[in-house]
Amino acid sequence: MGNQANLSIGSVAKRTGVTASALHFYEAKGLISSERDASNQRRYHPTVIRRVSIIKAAQKLGLSLENIKNAFASLPSNRTPDQKDWQKLSMAWQEELDRRIASLQRLSVLMNSCIGCGCLSMDKCPLYNQDDHLSQYGPGPVLLQQKEDQP
Ligand code: FES
Repeated sequence: MGNQANLSIGSVAKRTGVTASALHFYEAKGLISSERDASNQRRYHPTVIRRVSIIKAAQKLGLSLENIKNAFASLPSNRTPDQKDWQKLSMAWQEELDRRIASLQRLSVLMNSCIGCGCLSMDKCPLYNQDDHLSQYGPGPVLLQQKEDQP
């Protein structure tokens, strides 16, 4: 196989379990790249398979394509992640996953106060913030953040 960009899009799709249209999409988003052969067909470097595998794993964790792209960009010379890089990325993503689980658990507790309430108060309900009027107090879910900041 060598170290050349010689994989067709069909071959990459078959080996990764990702559709050709998804590969086009990843490429348009800058997550993978290809070269063109003499007949202007896409040809992929074999390392694209590892890259797509990491994209799929990260998506299963619920990470956005932007987040994945930033992670790839953080690697030295924007190369395909090796095993050591994967350890680093997966540890960072584990922390992100833990943060999100904790946030969902807090949300679940807050949701209990909404069940049977129905006030949908813009000032009091942590789940409702019509027109994002709380944005003046900072980015993100301000009421939830306030709860997180409390000991
Ligand atoms: S609906 Fe009343 S606190 Fe959320």
